[in-house]
This record gives sequence, C-alpha cells and structure tokens, in this order.
Amino acid sequence: MDHIKNRMAIEFTSIRRASRNDREDYLEIFDQRLVHSDYISGEDVAHFEREFADYLGVSSVVSCGNGSDALLIALKCLNLPKNAKVLVPDFTFLAAAEAVASLGLIPILVDIDKETLTITAETLKCCWDKDVAAVIVVHLFGYAAPMDDILALCKKNGAYLIEDCAQATGTKIRYNNKWCHVGTIGDIGTTSFFPTKNLSAMGDGGAIFTSNHSLAQRAQMFKSHGALNKYTPVCIGQNSRLDTLQAAILRYRLKKIDIQIEKCQRIALKYDIAFAQLPMITIPQRSNDVFHSFHQYPILIHNGSRDNLQAYLKDEGIPSMVYYPLPLSKTEAYQDYSPYESAVSLAIGTQILCLPIHSYLDEGEVNSIITKIVQFYEE
Ligand SMILES: Cc1ncc(COP(=O)(O)O)c(C=O)c1O
Repeated sequence: MDHIKNRMAIEFTSIRRASRNDREDYLEIFDQRLVHSDYISGEDVAHFEREFADYLGVSSVVSCGNGSDALLIALKCLNLPKNAKVLVPDFTFLAAAEAVASLGLIPILVDIDKETLTITAETLKCCWDKDVAAVIVVHLFGYAAPMDDILALCKKNGAYLIEDCAQATGTKIRYNNKWCHVGTIGDIGTTSFFPTKNLSAMGDGGAIFTSNHSLAQRAQMFKSHGALNKYTPVCIGQNSRLDTLQAAILRYRLKKIDIQIEKCQRIALKYDIAFAQLPMITIPQRSNDVFHSFHQYPILIHNGSRDNLQAYLKDEGIPSMVYYPLPLSKTEAYQDYSPYESAVSLAIGTQILCLPIHSYLDEGEVNSIITKIVQFYEE
C-alpha cells in the first residue's frame, strides 16, 4: 500500500520520475560506456562541451566538477586584484558569495528588486564604489536579471560581469534584438548540473562558458591543475572534472531540455491564471523580453499566511519549498559582507513559497495543487 502511495505522491522535482521513465535509455547509455571504461575525460566530455556550446550560442564550454567550482574558476580567470570587491545578490544560494570570499576577495551583498527577484542596475548602484571590480548576477528560479542596464553599468565602470545560470539553463533574453541564452551576455557564464537543475546530471557537474577565447583557455587551465599540458603547470590550479558518465547523461538530456521547458511554461500559465484571482498572492513580474525556463514557480503571499499554507499543502500531500528563508547577510558566515540594508531580500524571505513545477507533473496534479490553494483561501 505504501508503495502505491509513494508512486502517486506529487513530487517537488522530476528526479525520480525521470529515472523511472527513461530507465531503459539510461541502461543502454551505461552499457555502451562500460565497453570503453573511459570514465575520466572520455570522448563524451568533449562532445557534450561542443553540443552545449552550440545550444547556448557561445564558442567555448569548459566543463567542471560542479556549479560552485564553476564560479570559483570563473573568478580566478579574471585575475582580480587582492581585496577587490565583487557585488553579489543577497537573496540567492550562497555559492557566489562563497566563491568570492574563499579567493580572498570581498563579496558585497546587494539587495534584490522585488519584481524580478534579481539584482538590477538600480540595486547595484546603491552599493557601488571605486573598489568594485566585478559583479556576479544570478538568474534566479529561471527568471533573468535585466541585463542591458547591468552590462552598461559594468562597462561604464570597467567591471567584469559573471552570470550564474545554475537555475536558468534554457532561459533566454531578448538582447540587441536577438534571443540570447542567459550567461552569454556578460564576460563569463557558469552553471550547475546538480540533479534538480534544468539540465541535470545523475550527480555533480558544472560548466563555465564564454565566447572570449583567452578566458576559456584560462578556465581550462585552472580546472586542470593549472596546466594545459600535463605535468607542466603554469599557475596554481585545481582538479575539477565532469566525469564521462555524467557527460553522457547530459548529452541525452540536452536533447530534451526545450520540450521540458515548454511543459513547464504550460503549467506556469495555468498557475498564473488561477492565482490571478487571489488578492493575497502575487507572482514576481515576468518580462515579455524573457523566455522563462521555470526552474521554480515562486509565489509571494502578502497576508502573513505563508507558513500556514505550506503546512496545509503538506497535509494534503503537496510539497513546496521556501527559497530562501534568510538573505545571506542575516547568516553568521556572511553577516560582515553587508554594509547596506537588504530590506527587499528580508521581506521576500517571509513571503515566498515555491510550488511544484516540472515536466513530469500531470494535469490532474496541477489542478489539484491549484484547487487546494484556492480552497485554503476560501475557507
Ligand atoms: C544559483 C546557484 N549557483 C550555484 C550553485 C552551486 O551549484 P553546485 O551545487 O553544482 O555546486 C547552485 C546550486 O544549487 C545555485 O542554485
């Protein structure tokens, strides 16, 4: 009985359903790779890097061990002066701030804009001074930060721009009258292939991407012990590799990503229409100039009922998540990196709730999530 219940439960991510659905294909992929037993730097790694670069429209993808390493390596490529300041969002996963601080640079936590949930040129300007050498923008939840103004601000001040796309593979922005993937507008893009991400591996994985040849070469060097040729390092590097099996899985999943995003967009539209009738819920603003990948579907609840709604949904078998309950500036590790107030980040942390959204969610499940939320507010 428990077994049947588990199978029917609404799941927050697609991981288990994808494993069940595509099991035969995965077994075939593994079987073929067992023949070569080329587990490190096998040919799938180079193929994946080329295929992902073509998908994104950049000249180089350098794969690595995870999305946190990707940020670290991207920062190393920029060769910033000691004690330089790097502006990062206060409301996000900690990897960007962690990478900056662990290189001896100074992360400055910047408040987000309440519409897009990302940093903007306006929020960056409030924290800018002459020591700012770079910005890491995070395209959170599949949203895209407003890149035109951010890029203009960075260019005007001679600062580098890194785009963390760990939550936004597949998101595109209309830029210079063209649709561009996020991560391809600034100097370097990074991403994660953690199993819950839009493009996911069956373990850890990450990538750095750019159309700047010399930055790509430096990334290749830093991820390979500081050496482009084995045993002749030219700088201090690290070991950060995407293994062959993960690359093979990523090649398979890359072919499906756009179809999955379309399914998520259809679910999001149903949610949008349903929640438009509930005055206590707002949906963070989405621009017509962004092709949204819906890594998450966040709602903001304004009447203080977020925690009660989450508990009610849990009782009804509907999972949801609070990303992120606290801005980084309110955590012990990062409290010293916030000379400025992050009032929006703090408020959003008390209002936000992320609902299930993935390509294995069926129509009946989406309807029942909507019905339960509407019922909660009508009772
Ligand atoms: C926005 C963001 N950046 C970076 C990372 C780090 O990726 P990884 O877990 O692969 O190190 C994550 C992971 O959750 C993330 O959400």
